[in-house]
Amino acid sequence: MTMIVTGGAGFIGGNFVYYQLQNFPQDRVVCFDNLTYAGNLKTLDEAMKNDNFRFVKGNIADREAVFQLFEEEKPDIVVNFAAESHVDRSIEDPGIFLTTNIMGTQVLMDVCRKYGVGRFHQVGTDEVYGDLPLDRPDLFFTENTPIHTSSPYSASKAAADLLVLAYHRTFGMPVTITRCSNNYGPFHFPEKLIPLMITRAMGDESLPVYGAGENVRDWLYVEDHCSAIDLVARKGRVGEVYNIGSHNERTNLQVVKAILAELKKPESLICFVKDRPGHDRRYAIDSSKLQNELGWQAKTDFDEGIRKTVRWYQDNQSWWREILQGSYRDYYTNMYGNR
Ligand code: NAD
Ligand code: DAU
Repeated sequence: MTMIVTGGAGFIGGNFVYYQLQNFPQDRVVCFDNLTYAGNLKTLDEAMKNDNFRFVKGNIADREAVFQLFEEEKPDIVVNFAAESHVDRSIEDPGIFLTTNIMGTQVLMDVCRKYGVGRFHQVGTDEVYGDLPLDRPDLFFTENTPIHTSSPYSASKAAADLLVLAYHRTFGMPVTITRCSNNYGPFHFPEKLIPLMITRAMGDESLPVYGAGENVRDWLYVEDHCSAIDLVARKGRVGEVYNIGSHNERTNLQVVKAILAELKKPESLICFVKDRPGHDRRYAIDSSKLQNELGWQAKTDFDEGIRKTVRWYQDNQSWWREILQGSYRDYYTNMYGNR
């Protein structure tokens, strides 16, 4: 069996590559990734030592390169992680989000159709549902919640989901989609809340919390996301969407305080800054469809997950310090300088 994993040099895709190599050692895994600012070959150092792993640098929106890859590999399954994934960047510069997230997905659908790929799995996000009010803890996103996007990022992800479902309905393509809540864990690029706060707190730098820090996210340890995607891509019903979440809701302030406690750093590092435009208030996921149909359960709760994550950033400083030395510095100044 050959699986193509697009975006496998990124955070979740990288973790997924390891999940596959460890759990299905007889299968071949081919990572196709354009190595944007968020892609990092160091993440795949260990995978590169495995004979069943191949890395190919390329852009999912580059039709010729993608068709060439499929001609060579004739994959059985394709799992699409490749995307521009950061909401703040999509507010600054939406164009690339449309090219990669929508047009790139279309190229992948076309190539899967041509080569009769047995399953195309699209890694989606709960952000396509918009947000929930803070004062209604009884409400959760289900697969039937209407699409109602807030940012250019989430709009591009919603468009991709709709395209995937359209290719299923029109051309009978064997597709599945998962929509997951916020992930955290190893190899998470330090522009996102949890790795940003861990790496800055380790250097005793100020921690920029948007608004009053009251927005709520449902945090899922990345390995649990990988197990859910794997289950759906192999055993989920075609044409179906499955939500993934684990009822680990926390306000951003709770998350930052948990990190500070773990690192034994003072809360005086917290600094409230101007809010994100259109900031989604609360995400909360009902994943009972996935649990009932496929028996999936998250294994790691937030307290354990944050401990493991902090430890990983303490033990793997060369991985993230190298990132912080590059163009990331300009990014941080532009994004946070005037906040
Ligand atoms: P990431 O930004 O860490 O990684 C994205 C990867 O895609 C990088 O390796 C990058 O080089 C690659 N890439 C970008 N554009 C490409 C292109 N045109 N062609 C080929 N490769 C390209 O993202 P992530 O956080 O790992 O997210 C992966 C997927 O999961 C995304 O589709 C995202 O929307 C979705 N998702 C993320 C979360 C989360 O909390 N991070 C939650 C739910 C869903
Ligand atoms: O829900 C799934 C989504 O989760 C994924 O689809 C996205 O790819 C992923 O980036 C993530 O989106 P968020 O916008 O929720 O993640 P982010 O880490 O950017 O922000 C989490 C929360 O923390 C959000 O309420 C904004 C806040 N925040 C973020 C940053 C970067 C801060 O308060 N300060 C910050 O510096």
